[in-house]
Amino acid sequence: MQELHNADTFCESWSVAPMRLLSLTLSLASSLFVAASLVERPDRIPFDGQYLKPNASNTAVEWWWGHAIAEPTGNNPPAAFQYLFYQGYPFALGPRDPTLPEFYIVVNGFFPNGTRFSGTIPATSGTVTSHAQEVAGSWGGAGSFRGSPDLSTFTIHLDAPEYGFVGSVKLTSRAAHHFGCNTTSGPYFESILDQHTTLSAAEEILFTKLGWAISVPGAVSEVDMKINGARLRFTGQGYHDANWAPAPLNTAVDSWFFGTASVGDYDLSYISVSPSNSTRTLNTGYLAHKGIVLQNQCSLEGTKSKDRSVIKPYGLDQSSSGVPVPTGFIIDYILGNGEMYSFNLSSVGSSAQNPDEVVYHRWVGQASGGKVGGVSEQGLTVFEWLNPGLVPYSV
Ligand SMILES: *[C@@H]1O[C@H](CO)[C@@H](O)[C@H](O)[C@H]1NC(C)=O
Ligand SMILES: *[C@@H]1O[C@H](CO)[C@@H](O)[C@H](O)[C@H]1NC(C)=O
Ligand SMILES: *[C@@H]1O[C@H](CO)[C@@H](O)[C@H](O)[C@H]1NC(C)=O
Ligand SMILES: *[C@@H]1O[C@H](CO)[C@@H](O)[C@H](O)[C@H]1NC(C)=O
Ligand SMILES: *[C@@H]1O[C@H](CO)[C@@H](O)[C@H](O)[C@H]1NC(C)=O
Repeated sequence: MQELHNADTFCESWSVAPMRLLSLTLSLASSLFVAASLVERPDRIPFDGQYLKPNASNTAVEWWWGHAIAEPTGNNPPAAFQYLFYQGYPFALGPRDPTLPEFYIVVNGFFPNGTRFSGTIPATSGTVTSHAQEVAGSWGGAGSFRGSPDLSTFTIHLDAPEYGFVGSVKLTSRAAHHFGCNTTSGPYFESILDQHTTLSAAEEILFTKLGWAISVPGAVSEVDMKINGARLRFTGQGYHDANWAPAPLNTAVDSWFFGTASVGDYDLSYISVSPSNSTRTLNTGYLAHKGIVLQNQCSLEGTKSKDRSVIKPYGLDQSSSGVPVPTGFIIDYILGNGEMYSFNLSSVGSSAQNPDEVVYHRWVGQASGGKVGGVSEQGLTVFEWLNPGLVPYSV
């Protein structure tokens, strides 16, 4: 496979110097102190709006992520386009390098013939404004986004010909927005804890300060993008969410699995996250059918017998970043009423991975599943493994 790299990714140093991570020492206590002054009251913030105020002199990070994906051609990975509008850095080793931009857009994907593309577009600003639930992001000199007032569409525009990206992606939602737990009142995970739980600094960030808002749980996507002069144009599936944290992920998280899929009329997503140096795994499961929510749960893994989900990686592949990685995931949903659903998210291995870095793996692929014992539907998926703790994978 050919690769097009129109710009170096700023986290490149992670793939060349992973061992530095092991000696990473950041003051969690001071990041928590900073966090207090950063947090706005969530009930006043538009659902897909600005929750923190990352700036060049704090450690906060906030990002708006989304993707579009189309039926594959032959045995190629599905054509795909993924965007990240960043404020700050999700992985950071020590103080911020002042030469790196505070605001930037990262793009990854595949052409229908299986050729990868990726790029990082620096921006002169990264401003998110809102009017009721309508949000507008403006990344100066790079691109913009807009979420409609009823959260039914999310559209991005890139206008960075000098970095090889000009065009748009439009997502039309097919399910209502939701947070990671079964609530509309807050984007955090503290409901998994009982009030007497003593938390480590990393657990405190992950469970109570790291936010997740899913404004488009599943979508019809329309992509029309010029990438280094080549056109990528398709109608397919999609998804959009946003995250924020007062400190980089590597200060709080060892391993983070995320995935989303649209399979027939089902839309699903999950995360399974291990805080640094902790055995408490945060697990979420969201499953909707024709827009009706069947499950939307968060919990500590192993604490529930129903209304739970099970996230299991399988397979073994050697990624080109040199570490063993899974090739797919089985996601089981056990509803509150005992009904069971199961989905198989699979990729075709390293040729479907982009990015492929020691600490950041993302795959595109196919998905199948539905109600256990019922008809198995077919669909498409994107799944990720963020691994700042360099947790080894084996089968
Ligand atoms: C950056 O954020 C911190 C709070 O984390 C605040 O004290 C500081 O004034 C901000 N700096 C700028 C330039 O906005
Ligand atoms: C909570 O989950 C139930 C299904 O168990 C679902 O009907 C409801 O819409 C969910 N509420 C939210 C806010 O996600
Ligand atoms: C695949 O498609 C891209 C975009 O059209 C093109 O740049 C690339 O050369 C193609 N690769 C092959 C191997 O045909
Ligand atoms: C986790 O534990 C290791 C070994 O004790 C330590 O070096 C590292 O700083 C810890 N990580 C965090 C985020 O607390
Ligand atoms: C999941 O899908 C992959 C690819 O189709 C297949 O090889 C694998 O056997 C499936 N696993 C299960 C448990 O169904």
